[in-house]
Amino acid sequence: MAQSITITDNRSGESVEIPIDNGGVDASSWQKLLPGIWFFDPGMMTTAVTESSITELDGDAGILRYRGYPIEQLAEKSTYLEVTYLLLHGELPTKEQLDAWTFDITHHTFIHENMRKRFMEGFHYDAHPMGMLVSAIAALSTFYLDAKEIHDPAVRMRQIIRLIAKVPTLAACAYRFSVGLPFVYPDNSLPFASNFLSMMWRTEPNFEPDPILARAMDVLFILHADHEQNCGTTAMRVVGSSHADPYSAAAGAAAALYGPRHGGANEEVIKMLTSIGSMENVDAFVSDVKAGRGRLMGFGHRVYKNYDPRARIIKQTADEVFTVTGKNPLLDIALKLEEVALGDEYFTSRRLYPNVDFYSGLIYQAMGFPIDMFTVLFAIPRTSGWLTHWQELLEQDQKIARPRQLYTGTGARDYVTLDQRS
Ligand code: CMC
Repeated sequence: MAQSITITDNRSGESVEIPIDNGGVDASSWQKLLPGIWFFDPGMMTTAVTESSITELDGDAGILRYRGYPIEQLAEKSTYLEVTYLLLHGELPTKEQLDAWTFDITHHTFIHENMRKRFMEGFHYDAHPMGMLVSAIAALSTFYLDAKEIHDPAVRMRQIIRLIAKVPTLAACAYRFSVGLPFVYPDNSLPFASNFLSMMWRTEPNFEPDPILARAMDVLFILHADHEQNCGTTAMRVVGSSHADPYSAAAGAAAALYGPRHGGANEEVIKMLTSIGSMENVDAFVSDVKAGRGRLMGFGHRVYKNYDPRARIIKQTADEVFTVTGKNPLLDIALKLEEVALGDEYFTSRRLYPNVDFYSGLIYQAMGFPIDMFTVLFAIPRTSGWLTHWQELLEQDQKIARPRQLYTGTGARDYVTLDQRS
């Protein structure tokens, strides 16, 4: 069978045969046959915007792999910093490479004092930490003027290291500010996740994060590190395609992540579970969702039409975390909700399954994070994914993102002066 498709312009009878390559067809052949006829694809539901060799996602089979390595194996055996190396360099590091990488990231965790004193402390007392983080990431570009040299691979890597290292510091800083606690400086003797937990919770000099919680945090970072062309990563690529510096592009990506349909969903899940209140109310809630009154947050995904593999791992991680923190009382409601939804034709026929956000919020809440920190916790590891895609985009030397529209407004008309308008 020919691995191609043929498009015929019925107005002229002209045809073009386009090979199917890697599961896609090259749109430039379409453009040659049909100049000025645009593909109408709101939400880019059927458009592949790039070739990428970073993350493989098979939503029907529920498969997620970074650089070929299954997410289950990475979550079990790797660390977040090793995963960032894998994403960015394409291969797992040797011992020497990992040591050097860990040293580099660890020694870029500090932020400029003015960043904290003049910028972070300038926010209103009740500022949302994610709003603070989005702005702070953008503000970093004003401290690192070399970041504009995006075509120099060594300069690029320096910004990548800075961003991966500093985002947790900014995240913890935003939290401490929002609750009126003094800023905690990074402790570079600690591993990445423990250092973040120390910056979050330390109130006395000998604070030691619980190792089970630190490992759970690291696993959650691994699971959230990348997810191919999602909304935030697409924002990163679109801004990056204009050759803006990586801080500005990452701020755009973080802003996209903030929304409740994307990384903001974990926050919404806890609000939803809290408003359901008890297991007896689950059936009524599900009936409301089926009647179009609200959505089951933490369920459904544009790409996964099967159980999100990350949700399965997070469910296990939750059990480990609860051995330390005690069970989150909302867990029973979540389990019942999952059971009811997965037994209901409305959800099964639409192939709606729990996604990464369904259980992650329960862990964060049990660990003591306020819900407005949840999306921030997603942004910390996703920073490495955004930057990996940004690097790939620049190496591919892609054109500036500039889609078309189908104009549906009024035709040309003459200006009407104010006194002549009814
Ligand atoms: N609850 C109830 N119905 C749903 C849900 C849901 N969570 N998600 C989708 N549907 C229904 C929707 O009403 C539609 O039904 P119909 O065909 O009768 O109109 C059908 O399923 C398809 O939905 P869609 O909105 O066209 O699907 P989409 O691919 O555009 O949206 C989504 C994907 C993630 C935005 C959506 O499933 C959703 O809003 N989920 C809840 C929010 C959420 O958990 N987001 C986190 C996503 S995972 C983390 C990340 O990657 O950001």
